[in-house]
Amino acid sequence: MAPTKRVYLSVPHMGENELRYVQDAFTSNWLSTVGPNLDAFEAAFTARVGLPCVALGSGTAGMHLGLRLLGVGPGDEVVCPTLTFIASVNPAVYLGARPVFVDSERATWNIDPQRLEDLLRRRAAQGRVPKALVVVHLYGQSADMDALKSICDRYGVAMLEDAAEAVGTTYRGRPAGTIAPVGVYSFNGNKIITTTGGGMLVAHDPAWIERARFWSQQARDPGVAYEHTQTGYNYRLSNVLAGIGRGQLEVLDQRVARRREIAFFYREAFADLDGLTLMPQSPDGLHTNWLSVFQVDAARLGIDRDAIIRALDAENIESRPVWKPMHLQPLFEGVECEGGEVAADLFRNGICFPSSTNLGDDDLRRGVATVRRAAGRER
Ligand SMILES: Cc1ncc(COP(=O)(O)O)c(C=O)c1O
Repeated sequence: MAPTKRVYLSVPHMGENELRYVQDAFTSNWLSTVGPNLDAFEAAFTARVGLPCVALGSGTAGMHLGLRLLGVGPGDEVVCPTLTFIASVNPAVYLGARPVFVDSERATWNIDPQRLEDLLRRRAAQGRVPKALVVVHLYGQSADMDALKSICDRYGVAMLEDAAEAVGTTYRGRPAGTIAPVGVYSFNGNKIITTTGGGMLVAHDPAWIERARFWSQQARDPGVAYEHTQTGYNYRLSNVLAGIGRGQLEVLDQRVARRREIAFFYREAFADLDGLTLMPQSPDGLHTNWLSVFQVDAARLGIDRDAIIRALDAENIESRPVWKPMHLQPLFEGVECEGGEVAADLFRNGICFPSSTNLGDDDLRRGVATVRRAAGRER
């Protein structure tokens, strides 16, 4: 039998005011996809990131609308990093576009600008440049936006930032998700702040946000008649969940500080172990370390990644591999990938440790002790 209550990878952590805002929704009967919590949540988010926004039912919905804003349609090619969660890619597929994958750089684990340039140069020579690039900021660390943006500008490729995992992240002083024309955030239950499920789309052009808002509510034309000239979706966030979002935004900076503290706690606790290394911390911005992710060098550590996962699981502690690259997914068999060896290596040897901000130091220490014991380096 498992010894103690299970420690999960990343769970919700409510602040003091979420329930009050939810209660307000009940008291006022704003129990639909309009209401004061939605207005206040969007206003607070805009105040934080400096761009107009629309609150949605998920980050995936935001990616779908964002790619449509960029004009992605059937037959277009959309470049995505191979090392990501599948929700970075699916929205391109919903629109009838074809993904093409690019490897990671070691410095950030995000899309490699050099590899991107190699792909675009080849495509340009063939006279078929991809329509858009989805940049992902993995695990709370920004991709190298300046390099990526200058490449995309040169080749005329539109950009969308998938900042689902990067709420609170910065790049050279600016919030991740606000550098490309459109950006998307996720408030899924496992994220640094959550609305239980939800997302936010931001854009530089306020007219784009209005269009996305319109599409998110079934694209109903103005007037009393239910008249439609475009295809829409039911993608709006509910006013109840926006209440949770309001409270969570108030504690975002605290959550970021604690996630970083947890990552650095593990780094310190494993500092004397050869072959267990925290993912890189780029000097270009604030890495939230949404998840504490390490690379295992089995030859040096004397134990491989999967053995660590098994040892933790035996102690009722959840850990997971790094995302399985898209070019290794059965769903995307045969899809072109520029490189892919770096992402494959990060996947093979990468492990995500429990990172919830409401984890006590005792639980963190128990995880550390389990890993050390498994590696034969008990203290
Ligand atoms: C990189 C990435 N993109 C997109 C998403 C989609 O967000 P959501 O779950 O809110 O649809 C997620 C997380 O779930 C993610 O990790």
